[in-house]
Amino acid sequence: MNNNPIGIFDSGFGGLTVMSAVHKMFPCENLIYFGDSAHVPYGSKSPETVIRFSKDIAAFLASKKIKMLVIACNTATAHALPTIKKMLKIPVIGVIEPGSKAAIAATIANKIGVIGTQGTIDSNSYKKSINKISKSALVYQQACPLFVPIVEEGWTNTRIALETADIYLKPLINKKIDSLLLGCTHYPLLRKVLEKVIGKNIKIVDSANAVSCEIKRVLNEKNLFSNKKRAAILTFYTSDNPKKFQKLGGVFFGQKIPKPQKITLE
Ligand code: DGL
Repeated sequence: MNNNPIGIFDSGFGGLTVMSAVHKMFPCENLIYFGDSAHVPYGSKSPETVIRFSKDIAAFLASKKIKMLVIACNTATAHALPTIKKMLKIPVIGVIEPGSKAAIAATIANKIGVIGTQGTIDSNSYKKSINKISKSALVYQQACPLFVPIVEEGWTNTRIALETADIYLKPLINKKIDSLLLGCTHYPLLRKVLEKVIGKNIKIVDSANAVSCEIKRVLNEKNLFSNKKRAAILTFYTSDNPKKFQKLGGVFFGQKIPKPQKITLE
Protein backbone atom coordinates (compact mmCIF):
# COMPACT_ATOMS: atom_id res chain seq x y z
CA MET A 1 0.00 0.00 0.00
CA ASN A 2 1.17 3.52 -0.78
CA ASN A 3 -0.80 6.71 -0.15
CA ASN A 4 1.51 9.02 -2.09
CA PRO A 5 0.06 10.76 -5.15
CA ILE A 6 0.33 9.78 -8.81
CA GLY A 7 2.04 12.47 -10.91
CA ILE A 8 0.67 13.37 -14.33
CA PHE A 9 2.09 15.89 -16.76
CA ASP A 10 1.38 17.39 -20.15
CA SER A 11 2.50 20.33 -22.26
CA GLY A 12 -0.62 22.23 -21.15
CA PHE A 13 -4.30 21.56 -20.44
CA GLY A 14 -4.74 18.58 -22.78
CA GLY A 15 -3.50 15.96 -20.32
CA LEU A 16 -6.46 16.83 -18.11
CA THR A 17 -8.54 14.60 -20.44
CA VAL A 18 -6.29 11.74 -19.28
CA MET A 19 -6.37 12.90 -15.65
CA SER A 20 -10.17 12.98 -15.77
CA ALA A 21 -10.32 9.33 -16.89
CA VAL A 22 -7.77 8.36 -14.22
CA HIS A 23 -9.74 10.18 -11.50
CA LYS A 24 -12.97 8.47 -12.57
CA MET A 25 -11.35 5.05 -12.34
CA PHE A 26 -9.50 5.75 -9.05
CA PRO A 27 -11.56 8.35 -7.12
CA CYS A 28 -9.50 7.80 -3.94
CA GLU A 29 -6.02 8.16 -5.48
CA ASN A 30 -4.39 11.56 -4.91
CA LEU A 31 -3.24 13.09 -8.19
CA ILE A 32 -0.77 15.90 -8.94
CA TYR A 33 -0.93 17.49 -12.37
CA PHE A 34 1.65 19.72 -14.04
CA GLY A 35 0.66 21.58 -17.21
CA ASP A 36 3.60 23.22 -18.98
CA SER A 37 1.53 26.05 -20.49
CA ALA A 38 4.59 28.32 -20.72
CA HIS A 39 6.12 25.97 -23.28
CA VAL A 40 3.06 24.65 -25.13
CA PRO A 41 2.91 23.48 -27.91
CA TYR A 42 5.37 20.58 -27.71
CA GLY A 43 4.06 19.20 -31.00
CA SER A 44 6.08 21.55 -33.18
CA LYS A 45 9.29 21.48 -31.09
CA SER A 46 12.43 19.39 -31.54
CA PRO A 47 12.86 16.14 -29.59
CA GLU A 48 15.82 17.65 -27.66
CA THR A 49 13.71 20.57 -26.43
CA VAL A 50 10.79 18.34 -25.43
CA ILE A 51 13.18 16.02 -23.56
CA ARG A 52 14.65 18.99 -21.67
CA PHE A 53 11.22 20.28 -20.59
CA SER A 54 10.08 16.77 -19.66
CA LYS A 55 13.14 16.14 -17.47
CA ASP A 56 12.53 19.37 -15.53
CA ILE A 57 8.90 18.47 -14.92
CA ALA A 58 9.70 14.86 -13.94
CA ALA A 59 12.26 16.13 -11.40
CA PHE A 60 9.73 18.60 -9.98
CA LEU A 61 7.02 15.95 -9.62
CA ALA A 62 9.49 13.46 -8.13
CA SER A 63 10.28 16.09 -5.46
CA LYS A 64 6.55 15.90 -4.52
CA LYS A 65 7.08 12.21 -3.58
CA ILE A 66 4.88 10.76 -6.32
CA LYS A 67 4.64 6.95 -6.40
CA MET A 68 4.22 6.75 -10.16
CA LEU A 69 4.49 9.12 -13.15
CA VAL A 70 2.13 9.28 -16.11
CA ILE A 71 3.33 11.20 -19.17
CA ALA A 72 -0.09 12.22 -20.48
CA CYS A 73 1.35 14.12 -23.45
CA ASN A 74 1.71 12.08 -26.63
CA THR A 75 4.57 14.20 -27.97
CA ALA A 76 6.48 14.02 -24.66
CA THR A 77 5.89 10.26 -24.56
CA ALA A 78 7.18 9.94 -28.13
CA HIS A 79 10.40 11.84 -27.40
CA ALA A 80 11.13 11.55 -23.68
CA LEU A 81 9.70 8.31 -22.22
CA PRO A 82 12.96 6.27 -22.30
CA THR A 83 14.95 9.18 -20.77
CA ILE A 84 12.44 9.74 -17.94
CA LYS A 85 12.22 6.00 -17.23
CA LYS A 86 15.99 5.91 -16.76
CA MET A 87 15.94 9.07 -14.66
CA LEU A 88 13.34 8.06 -12.04
CA LYS A 89 13.21 5.08 -9.67
CA ILE A 90 9.40 4.90 -9.71
CA PRO A 91 7.19 3.35 -12.45
CA VAL A 92 6.78 5.68 -15.44
CA ILE A 93 4.20 5.13 -18.16
CA GLY A 94 3.32 7.05 -21.30
CA VAL A 95 0.22 7.13 -23.46
CA ILE A 96 1.53 5.51 -26.64
CA GLU A 97 1.73 1.84 -25.63
CA PRO A 98 -1.72 1.72 -23.93
CA GLY A 99 -3.23 3.58 -26.92
CA SER A 100 -1.59 1.16 -29.37
CA LYS A 101 -2.98 -1.85 -27.49
CA ALA A 102 -6.47 -0.31 -27.52
CA ALA A 103 -6.27 0.34 -31.27
CA ILE A 104 -5.21 -3.24 -31.99
CA ALA A 105 -8.10 -4.49 -29.86
CA ALA A 106 -10.52 -2.26 -31.80
CA THR A 107 -9.52 -3.05 -35.39
CA ILE A 108 -11.02 -5.94 -37.33
CA ALA A 109 -9.71 -5.04 -40.80
CA ASN A 110 -6.21 -4.60 -39.28
CA LYS A 111 -6.03 -1.08 -40.70
CA ILE A 112 -5.43 1.60 -38.09
CA GLY A 113 -5.33 5.35 -38.64
CA VAL A 114 -3.28 7.41 -36.19
CA ILE A 115 -3.55 11.18 -35.85
CA GLY A 116 -1.27 13.33 -33.70
CA THR A 117 0.99 16.36 -33.60
CA GLN A 118 3.77 16.79 -36.16
CA GLY A 119 6.35 15.68 -33.57
CA THR A 120 4.44 12.52 -32.61
CA ILE A 121 3.80 11.49 -36.22
CA ASP A 122 7.36 12.29 -37.38
CA SER A 123 8.75 10.16 -34.52
CA ASN A 124 6.85 7.13 -35.90
CA SER A 125 6.33 6.08 -32.28
CA TYR A 126 2.74 4.87 -32.72
CA LYS A 127 3.59 2.88 -35.85
CA LYS A 128 6.57 1.24 -34.11
CA SER A 129 4.56 0.52 -30.98
CA ILE A 130 1.58 -0.96 -32.87
CA ASN A 131 3.81 -3.09 -35.11
CA LYS A 132 5.78 -4.32 -32.09
CA ILE A 133 2.54 -5.84 -30.77
CA SER A 134 0.99 -6.77 -34.11
CA LYS A 135 3.40 -7.13 -37.05
CA SER A 136 0.59 -7.47 -39.58
CA ALA A 137 -1.32 -4.30 -38.60
CA LEU A 138 -1.28 -1.62 -41.29
CA VAL A 139 -0.78 1.81 -39.75
CA TYR A 140 -1.59 5.02 -41.61
CA GLN A 141 -0.52 8.23 -39.93
CA GLN A 142 -1.54 11.83 -40.33
CA ALA A 143 -0.22 14.90 -38.52
CA CYS A 144 -2.99 17.39 -37.71
CA PRO A 145 -1.15 20.52 -36.51
CA LEU A 146 -4.20 22.79 -36.75
CA PHE A 147 -6.32 20.73 -34.35
CA VAL A 148 -4.57 21.91 -31.14
CA PRO A 149 -5.07 25.66 -31.81
CA ILE A 150 -8.66 25.02 -32.92
CA VAL A 151 -9.41 23.26 -29.62
CA GLU A 152 -7.60 25.90 -27.56
CA GLU A 153 -9.67 28.63 -29.27
CA GLY A 154 -12.82 26.75 -28.23
CA TRP A 155 -13.76 26.22 -31.89
CA THR A 156 -14.44 22.49 -31.51
CA ASN A 157 -17.92 22.46 -33.01
CA THR A 158 -17.45 24.95 -35.82
CA ARG A 159 -17.41 24.79 -39.60
CA ILE A 160 -13.67 25.46 -39.51
CA ALA A 161 -13.09 22.40 -37.31
CA LEU A 162 -15.25 20.29 -39.62
CA GLU A 163 -13.52 21.42 -42.82
CA THR A 164 -10.06 20.99 -41.28
CA ALA A 165 -10.95 17.48 -40.09
CA ASP A 166 -12.29 16.65 -43.52
CA ILE A 167 -8.98 17.59 -45.19
CA TYR A 168 -6.81 15.78 -42.63
CA LEU A 169 -8.88 12.60 -42.49
CA LYS A 170 -9.66 12.05 -46.19
CA PRO A 171 -6.35 10.24 -46.89
CA LEU A 172 -6.95 7.88 -43.93
CA ILE A 173 -10.56 7.20 -44.96
CA ASN A 174 -9.33 6.43 -48.49
CA LYS A 175 -7.02 3.78 -46.98
CA LYS A 176 -10.15 2.08 -45.59
CA ILE A 177 -9.06 2.23 -41.94
CA ASP A 178 -11.62 0.84 -39.48
CA SER A 179 -10.19 2.41 -36.32
CA LEU A 180 -8.87 5.90 -35.70
CA LEU A 181 -6.49 6.37 -32.78
CA LEU A 182 -6.53 9.82 -31.22
CA GLY A 183 -2.79 10.28 -30.60
CA CYS A 184 -3.03 13.71 -29.00
CA THR A 185 -4.46 14.94 -25.72
CA HIS A 186 -6.65 17.59 -27.40
CA TYR A 187 -8.43 15.40 -29.91
CA PRO A 188 -11.06 13.84 -27.60
CA LEU A 189 -12.62 17.32 -27.54
CA LEU A 190 -13.09 17.11 -31.31
CA ARG A 191 -14.84 13.76 -31.09
CA LYS A 192 -18.22 14.99 -32.44
CA VAL A 193 -16.63 16.62 -35.47
CA LEU A 194 -14.41 13.60 -36.12
CA GLU A 195 -17.42 11.28 -35.94
CA LYS A 196 -19.24 13.41 -38.50
CA VAL A 197 -16.30 13.17 -40.91
CA ILE A 198 -15.44 9.46 -40.54
CA GLY A 199 -18.99 8.09 -40.25
CA LYS A 200 -20.19 5.09 -38.26
CA ASN A 201 -17.93 2.40 -39.70
CA ILE A 202 -14.69 3.72 -38.26
CA LYS A 203 -14.22 3.35 -34.50
CA ILE A 204 -12.59 6.15 -32.54
CA VAL A 205 -9.97 4.96 -30.05
CA ASP A 206 -9.18 7.37 -27.22
CA SER A 207 -6.17 6.28 -25.16
CA ALA A 208 -7.34 7.91 -21.89
CA ASN A 209 -9.19 4.80 -20.68
CA ALA A 210 -6.42 2.51 -21.89
CA VAL A 211 -3.96 4.58 -19.82
CA SER A 212 -6.14 4.17 -16.72
CA CYS A 213 -6.14 0.38 -17.25
CA GLU A 214 -2.34 0.42 -17.53
CA ILE A 215 -2.11 2.42 -14.27
CA LYS A 216 -4.34 -0.18 -12.60
CA ARG A 217 -2.07 -2.99 -13.82
CA VAL A 218 1.08 -1.25 -12.52
CA LEU A 219 -0.43 -0.28 -9.13
CA ASN A 220 -1.61 -3.85 -8.70
CA GLU A 221 1.66 -5.44 -9.74
CA LYS A 222 3.78 -3.17 -7.48
CA ASN A 223 1.23 -3.14 -4.66
CA LEU A 224 1.00 0.65 -4.80
CA PHE A 225 -2.74 1.26 -4.37
CA SER A 226 -3.78 3.70 -1.68
CA ASN A 227 -5.76 2.22 1.24
CA LYS A 228 -7.57 5.52 1.89
CA LYS A 229 -11.32 5.44 1.27
CA ARG A 230 -11.99 9.17 1.00
CA ALA A 231 -12.23 11.57 -1.95
CA ALA A 232 -8.84 12.16 -3.52
CA ILE A 233 -6.85 15.37 -3.21
CA LEU A 234 -6.26 16.84 -6.67
CA THR A 235 -3.39 19.32 -6.98
CA PHE A 236 -2.65 21.39 -10.07
CA TYR A 237 0.49 23.24 -11.13
CA THR A 238 1.11 25.29 -14.25
CA SER A 239 4.14 27.11 -15.61
CA ASP A 240 1.99 29.98 -16.96
CA ASN A 241 -1.17 32.00 -16.25
CA PRO A 242 -3.07 30.19 -13.42
CA LYS A 243 -6.36 31.99 -14.16
CA LYS A 244 -6.35 30.91 -17.80
CA PHE A 245 -5.35 27.40 -16.77
CA GLN A 246 -8.25 27.17 -14.33
CA LYS A 247 -10.75 28.38 -16.95
CA LEU A 248 -9.65 26.23 -19.89
CA GLY A 249 -8.58 23.36 -17.64
CA GLY A 250 -12.14 22.90 -16.43
CA VAL A 251 -13.25 22.25 -20.03
CA PHE A 252 -10.61 19.55 -20.52
CA PHE A 253 -11.16 18.01 -17.06
CA GLY A 254 -14.94 17.97 -17.54
CA GLN A 255 -15.61 19.78 -14.25
CA LYS A 256 -14.38 22.84 -12.37
CA ILE A 257 -10.82 22.69 -11.09
CA PRO A 258 -9.22 24.72 -8.30
CA LYS A 259 -6.79 27.50 -9.22
CA PRO A 260 -3.36 25.95 -9.90
CA GLN A 261 -0.14 27.14 -8.38
CA LYS A 262 2.32 28.74 -10.81
CA ILE A 263 5.76 27.17 -10.88
CA THR A 264 8.76 28.26 -12.96
CA LEU A 265 11.09 25.37 -13.65
CA GLU A 266 14.39 26.93 -14.71
N1 DGL B 1 -0.15 17.48 -25.44
C1 DGL B 1 0.27 17.42 -26.81
C2 DGL B 1 0.16 15.97 -27.29
O1 DGL B 1 -0.58 15.17 -26.77
C3 DGL B 1 -0.56 18.31 -27.69
C4 DGL B 1 -0.30 19.80 -27.49
C5 DGL B 1 1.11 20.21 -27.82
O2 DGL B 1 1.49 20.25 -29.00
O3 DGL B 1 1.84 20.47 -26.88
O4 DGL B 1 0.88 15.60 -28.20
